[in-house]
Amino acid sequence: MPSSRKLFADSKKIIPSGVNSPVRYFEPYPFFTKKSKGSHIWDEDGNQYVDFCNGYGALLLGHRRKEIIQAVTKQLTQGTLYCTPTQLEIELSKLIIGNFPSIDKVRLVNTGGEATMTAIRLARGYTKKKKIIKFEGCYHGAHDTVLVKAGSGSAHNGISVSDGGLDEVSKNTLVVQYNNSEDLEKTIRQDKNIAGVIVEPILANMGLILPENNFLANIRKITRENNIPLIFDEVVTGFRVSPGGAQKHFGIKPDITTLGKALGNGFTIAAVGGRKEIMDLLSPEGKVYQASTFAGNPISVSAAIASLKTINKNKNNLYSKLEKYTLRFTRALDDMATDLKIPHQINSTASMFQIFFTSKPVVNYQTSKNADAKKFQKMFKILLKKGIFIAPSQFEVIFFSDAHTQKDLNKTLDAYQIALKSVKQ
Ligand SMILES: Cc1ncc(COP(=O)(O)O)c(C=O)c1O
Repeated sequence: MPSSRKLFADSKKIIPSGVNSPVRYFEPYPFFTKKSKGSHIWDEDGNQYVDFCNGYGALLLGHRRKEIIQAVTKQLTQGTLYCTPTQLEIELSKLIIGNFPSIDKVRLVNTGGEATMTAIRLARGYTKKKKIIKFEGCYHGAHDTVLVKAGSGSAHNGISVSDGGLDEVSKNTLVVQYNNSEDLEKTIRQDKNIAGVIVEPILANMGLILPENNFLANIRKITRENNIPLIFDEVVTGFRVSPGGAQKHFGIKPDITTLGKALGNGFTIAAVGGRKEIMDLLSPEGKVYQASTFAGNPISVSAAIASLKTINKNKNNLYSKLEKYTLRFTRALDDMATDLKIPHQINSTASMFQIFFTSKPVVNYQTSKNADAKKFQKMFKILLKKGIFIAPSQFEVIFFSDAHTQKDLNKTLDAYQIALKSVKQ
């Protein structure tokens, strides 16, 4: 890939590590993308890849989805940024609230990290307490309170607490084990200064880890009994697991929800919503401050309206199709790895999955870390050579989109077959 190699050399001179987000880097250099459409992206050397990174889950409906491009193109003729309220924001908020019954009021922000930062500030403002409990391996964005034993790129790069983060902040973040509600209960019993509990209802940042044994129902019960706001970080799962996210799928109502990624299907938008009495604490009426120049900008909002309308219109087929694809694909992959006698685990749900090279079930941070990440990297490189792009880390997830076809899946399975054979050696 001569063009990508040269572009990376240029990039490294002026962009730290040559990338604008750490997980984008992989050895020896990442490919540079020129364009995308449907289920594919093309690099600067003209190579075509079936895309399973899918904007780290954002592109539920695929690249350049017609309905979204049309809505954005129309809005471009009207204006890109007003910094005044618009009718569009009301329309989008109604759509979000319609899909998420736990949300009475919602504020639009730009990124998932901004949404979780605001959710946490709201929990602290509401309870007038200090400490936040998070679960080991959950990733909630790149801000100090949550960058403690986080998954995704920070686990991939071995960063437990980021340099530059204040001890005074991280010591107010308590970390408990995912899928272990007793650990949460014990921590809450021992500390009366808990402002909130934040969780990914399905952990999609240590590979994929599913909630087990009533974990979510238990943490809902414990937080409710102790009057502690429960924050569901649905930045990945919102609109992906179901039109009403993981909370609809599992039938659990959090106090605050964060959304992002699939909300805008590739456009920059996120949201934080929840119970009225909590959301009303936001400034200017309340004293919890949150603000952004670009929040609710009409381009992203138009994209999100089109995205949610398309999801809601197609929901009867969309989710069953994606689930069928995932199931068919992961069964075939499981058979291949079993035939090759490769110790492995595949965790999957809805339109997501990940394979781990380990003989032990992957149920939390530690069991994910114990899987053979070197084998994963070897597999990643072969898949890439065969024209299949998955996220370049064991701690990410393979995402299907509505644009994937059976032909894409067949090509991908053939590539996995070759990759697995080489992992075995
Ligand atoms: C569950 C979860 N929450 C929050 C975030 C942060 O979102 P953003 O990268 O848009 O700030 C991510 C990003 O991957 C995420 O997976």
